Amino acid sequence: MYLKALVLYLLIWIAAAAYQPQPRINKQLKSAKGFGSSVIFPITGNVYPKGYYHVTINIGQPPKPYFLDIDTGSDLTWLQCDAPCTKCTPAPHGLYKPQRNLITCQDPICASLHGPGNYHCPAPQEQCDYQVDYADEGSSMGVLVKDAFPFKFTNGSVVAPKLAFGCGYNQEVQDSAHLPYTDGVLGLGIGKSSILAQLRDMGLTQNVVGHCLSGQGGGFLFFGDDFLPDSGIVWKPMLSRSKYYSLGTSEIQFGGQATNIKGLPIVFDSGSTYTYFTSQAYNAVVSLIKRDLNGKQLKDATDDKSLPVCWKGSKPFKSIRDAVSYFKPLVLNFTDAKNVHFQLRPESYLIVTVHGNVCLGILDGGEVGLGNINVIGDISLQDKLVIYDNERQQIGWAPANCNRLPKS
Ligand SMILES: *[C@@H]1O[C@H](CO)[C@@H](O)[C@H](O)[C@H]1NC(C)=O
Ligand SMILES: *[C@@H]1O[C@H](CO)[C@@H](O)[C@H](O)[C@H]1NC(C)=O
Repeated sequence: MYLKALVLYLLIWIAAAAYQPQPRINKQLKSAKGFGSSVIFPITGNVYPKGYYHVTINIGQPPKPYFLDIDTGSDLTWLQCDAPCTKCTPAPHGLYKPQRNLITCQDPICASLHGPGNYHCPAPQEQCDYQVDYADEGSSMGVLVKDAFPFKFTNGSVVAPKLAFGCGYNQEVQDSAHLPYTDGVLGLGIGKSSILAQLRDMGLTQNVVGHCLSGQGGGFLFFGDDFLPDSGIVWKPMLSRSKYYSLGTSEIQFGGQATNIKGLPIVFDSGSTYTYFTSQAYNAVVSLIKRDLNGKQLKDATDDKSLPVCWKGSKPFKSIRDAVSYFKPLVLNFTDAKNVHFQLRPESYLIVTVHGNVCLGILDGGEVGLGNINVIGDISLQDKLVIYDNERQQIGWAPANCNRLPKS
């Protein structure tokens, strides 16, 4: 299982003396013609057994395809890179070979990646080193480079902007037995270094990203706002001054009843396979579910190590559909917005394992150091259109069929 999201620290040590913030031209661009163009990508992957969803992105001149793990919990896109690679994991398309296209430490992207206080650029022509550390103890270290990303836009044009990304030559993974078989990570977070912000600054798309992860595997991802349905989206303002896609605090309802689980800060993160609650909320939810299973035909399956909490039925479950009737829905009610709630049907918090047991896909975030944050991961984002709108600072969702690519 992966918890890509949440860059806990972002150290860069080269960079920065005279960093001038870029003039903000975005306001005017927004209304410019042609700016509403979007790009759409089919998604591959699933929550279980793969543990991640990825897209294929073409990069370079001539372009080559790369599988990138979709991560709305971190900003930087990076590829495993032949720089030479001191620690790489198997890459489906081989290592990316950087051209002479280094980003120097005086580039504003380098500054924004490091954040104020961590930025030093003793010599302006120095390369921009980066290190990203993920909550699952995975990490990538390397240098920032720039290369062409040919995108086919909804208006029919193919444009190949040069975007900055990480050329990673030292990767750590938390579980080498279950490697994500990708060439890198597609960082879609809120920071200025994300390729979304870069496309926006170039006037190519709005800084809006959406995904639709199918419970049957696959789905689609888009940049820009051409694929939003006209109605049916529930919007929640994002918290400002957060590093993540934060939606504010919520309380939990179980089976239509209020519970005393309240005040949970919620973050959406497609780089996390499962959903993580704070230890207190996790323990409360587990005991609610267990109490509710009393007298039903499910027994603890402690021998199934797929996830920490599993149950077996009177006969092995073939699919999630066989198991959901034993469980009740959870609802996240947002406290600072009237009538804004996020439904977690049993399909959104359970998996059926290869052993035929049903397991809880909500995990204890305290055990992985998430502290007070509750991370809503892929399992709970499935079969919904989820939109992160950085233009209007809001996050939206709607039930959706993610098996078919929409038309713009
Ligand atoms: C299509 O959209 C792209 C990205 O916004 C833009 O660069 C290009 O000029 C547009 N093409 C036409 C024909 O409008
Ligand atoms: C929470 O959301 C549900 C809808 O699923 C609604 O019926 C209920 O009144 C809400 N509870 C609170 C406390 O807002």
